[in-house]
Amino acid sequence: MGKSGFLLTPVMGGQFVGRKQVLHELVKELGNQKSHIGFCLYGKRRVGKTSIIMEAKELLKQKSDVVVTYLSLYDLPELTIKALVEALTESLLTAYQASGKLPLKVKVKQLLEAPWEIVLELLKNSKIEAQVLDNVKIMWEYRHKDEGAEYLKYSFNLGESLAKATSTKCIVMLDEFPEILKIPNGLQAVKMLRTQYEVQNKTALVISGSIRKTLDAVALSEASPFYKQLVPKHVLPFTLEETVEFLKLHSKDNDKKEAEKLHELTGGSPFYLQYIGRASGYSGGVDSAIKIFIEQEGDVFFKEEFEKLSEKEKTIVAALSNGNMTLTNIATELKEPITTIGRYMPILIEKEVAVKESRGTYKLADNLFGYWLREKTSN
Ligand SMILES: Nc1ncnc2c1ncn2[C@@H]1O[C@H](COP(=O)(O)OP(=O)(O)OP(=O)(O)O)[C@@H](O)[C@H]1O
Ligand SMILES: [Mg+2]
Repeated sequence: MGKSGFLLTPVMGGQFVGRKQVLHELVKELGNQKSHIGFCLYGKRRVGKTSIIMEAKELLKQKSDVVVTYLSLYDLPELTIKALVEALTESLLTAYQASGKLPLKVKVKQLLEAPWEIVLELLKNSKIEAQVLDNVKIMWEYRHKDEGAEYLKYSFNLGESLAKATSTKCIVMLDEFPEILKIPNGLQAVKMLRTQYEVQNKTALVISGSIRKTLDAVALSEASPFYKQLVPKHVLPFTLEETVEFLKLHSKDNDKKEAEKLHELTGGSPFYLQYIGRASGYSGGVDSAIKIFIEQEGDVFFKEEFEKLSEKEKTIVAALSNGNMTLTNIATELKEPITTIGRYMPILIEKEVAVKESRGTYKLADNLFGYWLREKTSN
């Protein structure tokens, strides 16, 4: 496959690699009418969270009694409750319309903007139930108001009432969910959603985000509103098998050794795998692909990160770029007291630049960063 086959955006279908277990679990649970269990996907930036939930959404299309709606809080025009309510309402109605369960003959956006008499006429023609009608009326009224946090409740319950009215299950996927905490009174909004979620039984919620601290605040820590309400799923980088599968999909030769080398250098980051592919096409083997990537993109990726470090940190990081090291090794190489190195190491770990390996050895968290640094310092 040519370079154009590499994507920096979320992938689905034929481009989607691996993740069998988590996908299986998501699809099985979310597809089950009797289950109300939701999920919280978390993991580092660009590890593949959005791809997993989008792929689950695709797979769930095979179930005619399940309607899935996906909304990323990054895509809101502004971070306000009003923007969230409008986006959620529109996205729910659009999902039900697209599934054929809500036979509306107009675009949802137009529906919510039309005068109420017309909306009523349109909805009556679609033979939807009174409960849904009431809910749509509330949402319609809200369009013409400036505020009202309680409307988030109605918006969230619109999915539940659509589900009940159409004998379906409604899956609400909210990507980049922790963004909600940036809205004034965001945490209260989350608590309210939780309270509603507890009494719903035809809705399942899937949230996702990358910043551990904010996800802790909404779902993972004991004090958070969604604690034990959503099954946490830690999304990790690709396993070696998944990296092998990726390389097989994208290049003709599938040498296990080559794949191992690529896996080691990228740490199984699907984003790196795609990016390196885009730069190189993997046509000349892994060594050449990495070389091309570092030459073309290395500075873009790593320069800023490196420049942010203090002078002392830079020398330690440069030492670590040559491989795993003990504190003593580094101290000897840099002609510094061991205690000095020992003081800096926790800082580098905190910054996620270095990681502790077993038996008191340390290494860089990102092997490609080390590769780039070696190239730079050898010139
Ligand atoms: N299963 C997969 N198969 C192939 N490529 C993938 C897979 N998952 C992710 N990628 C690639 O990795 C990159 C990041 O994917 P994605 O946007 O899904 O991650 P994310 O964790 O949602 O990122 P962010 O933190 O930016 O929201 C993209 O380039 C995407 O194409
Ligand atoms: Mg994402």
